[in-house]
Order: sequence, then structure tokens, then C-alpha cells
Amino acid sequence: MSAEGRRWAVVPAAGRGERFGGRVPKQYERILGRPVLSWTLAALLAERSIRRVVVALAEGDRRFGRLGEAGEARVQACPGGAERSISVANALESLAGAARDEDWVLVHDAARPCLRTTDLRALIDGVGRDSVGGLLAVPVGETLKRAGSNGRVDRTVPRDGLWRAMTPQMFRYGLLKRALALCIDRERNVTDEAAAIEAMGLRPRLVRGRGDNIKITHPEDRGLAAAILAARARE
Ligand code: CTP
Ligand code: MG
Repeated sequence: MSAEGRRWAVVPAAGRGERFGGRVPKQYERILGRPVLSWTLAALLAERSIRRVVVALAEGDRRFGRLGEAGEARVQACPGGAERSISVANALESLAGAARDEDWVLVHDAARPCLRTTDLRALIDGVGRDSVGGLLAVPVGETLKRAGSNGRVDRTVPRDGLWRAMTPQMFRYGLLKRALALCIDRERNVTDEAAAIEAMGLRPRLVRGRGDNIKITHPEDRGLAAAILAARARE
């Protein structure tokens, strides 16, 4: 084993995509003819040092099995949960026996198909020797407003020191499992893994990533993702 430890990946893909709307859950929307989740898995599988990618699926998901990547030896599925944190915790549980506490786990949203190999590498290199772990993130570029009542600005929030959290987020298997179990136990809602680690009093490392590693959240993000992936194909 290298000093950096072994690596596994987890892809929470059990969400319903309510803000996106659409006929199918957004992870199965097609972008340039290919399902979002397929782009996402290909980006992770390109990193050969990742031993296995565990995908957490919604109950009754019949679409995953039709993806080409579902047949890959390094890909396995597990049941998701009602919250993202439960989906991730289930995926970690399904690695029990294979993963060791000190191994690294990279958790990456199914809805982020534009992840670049260079960003994935930057995260692995930036966090690989860290005692806590970390995440890809981008400094906030716009002026931020806190909304008050009736759609008016209450005040301007200084953006200095504010970052947008992205994925992958990379933490030690044992630590992440404990952190998520604590949050789930206390019914503390966390929207990313870093927040669960922070709740333990630890401070994840921020690794600057690319702003175009977008999460498909709203309907207009689909066109953005298509443009980003098409531009990359032309490079
Ligand atoms: N996710 C999951 N299990 C859940 C909820 C979310 O695995 N119970 C996954 C989603 O599939 C997505 C990622 O977590 O890949 C990020 O979540 P988000 O963008 O919020 O996706 P959805 O929950 O599907 O969207 P929405 O909140 O608009 O319903
Ligand atoms: Mg959600």
C-alpha cells in the first residue's frame, strides 16, 4: 500500500430531482445523447487508482442496469435512502469488509457529469496526505445578498472567504462512516460529507477546483452541462 492509502468512490444517485423536474430523475436525463450518470461514472472510472465505485440507487430504479458502466467490474450498486447522507452511509456500509478505516473514499454527486480528470487529480494530490480530508470548492465570485421579507434585500453578505462546496469530497473511510452515523443518529441534516466531518469539530481542506464542475439542479443547468461537455470534446 502506498503512503497515500487505497481509494474507493461513492456516487449518491438516489435523489428525485425535484428542483429539476423532468420526466425521469435528472441523473438519467440525456446530455449529448448520454445519461448524466453515465458521464459521471466515466469520469470516476478514468481514475485507475479507484478500486471500486459504489452507486446508491432509489428503490425500484430500473434505469441503472441499462447503463454501459453498470456492467463494469469496478462498479457496484446498493440501495439509497431518503436523505443524501443515508444514501452515502449505505454505500459505505456495502464496502464493509473490503475497505479499511484508513482508506480514502471519494464521494461524488451523480448530478455532476462535468468533473475533469485534472480536478479529480488535484483533489487526490491536495488531500492525499491530509489528516482530515477535503473537498473541491470554488471561491464565490458574485456579490451575495441576504433576502429579507417580500423579496427585498435585507443586507449584502461579504463574500471574502466564502467558497462554493463541490464534489468529489474525500475522507477516510472510518472517519466518514462515524461522522455520517452521528449526523443520522442525531437527525442532523447535512447536505454534504464535509458538513458531517465539520460537525465532529474537524476542518476539511478546501482544494480549488473548476467552476464548470456544475451540479445539475435546475432545468437551465442541462444546457450549461451540454455546452461544457461539448466544449471539452472539441478541445
Ligand atoms: N441523492 C441521493 N439520495 C437522496 C437524495 C439525493 O443519493 N435521498 C443524490 C442525488 O441523486 C444527487 C446528489 O445526491 O446525485 C445531490 O443531491 P441533489 O442535487 O439535491 O439531487 P436531488 O435530491 O435528486 O434533487 P432535489 O433536491 O432537487 O430533489
Ligand atoms: Mg436534494
